[in-house]
Order: sequence, then structure tokens, then C-alpha cells
Amino acid sequence: MANSMKVFSGTANRPLAERMCEHLNLRLGEASVTRFPDGEVRVKIEEDVRGADVFVLQPTCPPVNDNLMELVLLIDAFKRASAERITAVVPYFGYARQDRKDEGRVPISAKLVSNMIVQAGASRVLCLDLHAAQIQGFFDIPVDHLYAAPVLSRYFRRLDIKDLVVVAPDVGSSRLARGYAKRLNAGLAIVDKRRVSDRVTEVMNVIGDVKGKGVLLIDDMISTGSSITQAAKTVHDLGAKEVYLAATHALLCGNAMALLDAAPVEAVVVTDTIPLPEAKQRPNLRVLSVARLLGEAILRIHHAESVSRLFQMDMDE
Ligand code: R5P
Repeated sequence: MANSMKVFSGTANRPLAERMCEHLNLRLGEASVTRFPDGEVRVKIEEDVRGADVFVLQPTCPPVNDNLMELVLLIDAFKRASAERITAVVPYFGYARQDRKDEGRVPISAKLVSNMIVQAGASRVLCLDLHAAQIQGFFDIPVDHLYAAPVLSRYFRRLDIKDLVVVAPDVGSSRLARGYAKRLNAGLAIVDKRRVSDRVTEVMNVIGDVKGKGVLLIDDMISTGSSITQAAKTVHDLGAKEVYLAATHALLCGNAMALLDAAPVEAVVVTDTIPLPEAKQRPNLRVLSVARLLGEAILRIHHAESVSRLFQMDMDE
């Protein structure tokens, strides 16, 4: 695109936006996000964006409602300031777990949130490891859906874990796990999980062989930590030699840190789509940055080049 490229950030994950701009060798645009006395979000773009190709980074991680509101207000402000094109860069897309009506009288939250982003004035969306890939179809604008696999698989390739089996902590993650198994030239196993409630899960069975193996449990997110730590305990009890946990999005809510601390694992590897507060940092919790990956995708979008090329390569932080 001939228009100038400008990158802005809301307050959800400014360090990631800064890291991304470092890779792009670009100054992060000036926008202020404050509060009105009654708590309403107030945003102001502090520089000219007329005719610009604007990218605004704002994962809708907790506090989800505040971050979402900031995102749509920023998009509205860019639209009214005559930006030529606005790309919502949402590395973690919240409300994604309610993506269908699986019982009566419930909303399809992921669709509503998609509508809000489009209605606000976004021209395109760039996201990373959506909880459900079909959410792309909720937008009637182009969506570029990236995967953290180029970053995470590079890390595990370098660890060179012997007799590696990639394990999906539930059937829903099996497609993701299969992708990693293929990339890492490893075996695949699947945990048959039953969700008892929002916070409690139960392991029923493991499909595949983990005895004596190096196990990499991979999921899109660690929320309460129940799914992945139960799976870790199960494969450990079944004789796995060493167990690693990995996920793109480190929500780490509720009791997650206590569960991870007690889990029989060598290390937990996540990315920086969601900022990790100091209280949740641990020596065996490694955070890999997706800044370079996002930066490269943004450049390619700006220059109208293929983004899917990025999927095939391994990528440094
Ligand atoms: C399942 O649908 C997801 O892929 C994750 O396994 C799940 O959302 C993680 O949640 P929690 O950490 O609370 O078990």
C-alpha cells in the first residue's frame, strides 16, 4: 500500500506493541487512553492519521470488557480521523469460547464481538491461534489468522527432546497437536477429557503411547490450568519420561499458578500475547515473544504480500 504505515496500541499489551515496533524499526504511534471520572474509557489519537494504513494492537484479554471497549473506541477514532485502512491486531481474541449455541437461550458471544469490531470500522483483522478457527467466518472483512507454531516449534526443535510425543490435552486440541507433531517429526497422542464445569475437568483416557517418552502437551490457551495440568499428571502417571507444557495464550486465571506449580513438568512455555504479571513469573515458565511474527505479518499486509508463507517457516522471537 502506498499510504504510510502507522502502528498504535491500546493498554492491553503495550510491551508487545513496543517489541513489534522495534522489529519493524517504526515509532509506536501516539494515542492516549484514559478514563472519564465515571470510569468510561476515553481515547484520543494524538497524531495525524489521515490516509494512513493503521494497525492497532489490542488483545482482548482480561479485563476483557475494558480491553474490548478500548479496541472499538480506538477503531472508531481512527475511522473518524480518516485513516485509509484500519487493521485490528488482536493476538488474543476473547469471548471466543462461546462460538455456537450449544444449549438454549445463550448468546453467540464470538459473533457479537466480531460484529462490534466490524461495526466500529475495522477494515481487516489479524489474530493468532483463535480458539476456534471458524470464528474467521464471523467477520465479513478479511481475517489473517496466524499461528504461534513457527515460534513455539522452533523452541522445542532446539530442545531436541528424545522420543518426543506431542499430546493434545483434549480432543478439541488434537488438530493443533497434530500440526506440532508434524512440524517436530514426533508421535501424537490425545487425552480424552470431560469438562465437569467451567473450572473443573476430568481425564477419562489417553489414546496413544506415552510410556518412556518425552511428552509435549500443547493447547491454544491455559485458563484455569485444569485441562493441561490434569493431562500432565495423567501422562506422568502412565510413565512419560519428561513432560513439557506449551500454549499460545497464558490467561492463567483462578488457581492456575498453584496447579502449574504442583504439576510434574520440566517447563511451561507460552507466548506474550497476554502480558504476564510479575506475580505469575516462574523460573520454569518461559515466555516466547510473537512480536517478530506479528511484525512480519503486518509488513506483509501493508505490502500486499502473502501472509500464509509465514506458516511454513520457523521463526525467532
Ligand atoms: C479447550 O476447549 C481449550 O482448548 C483449553 O483446553 C481450555 O480452554 C483450557 O482451559 P482450562 O485451562 O481452564 O482447563
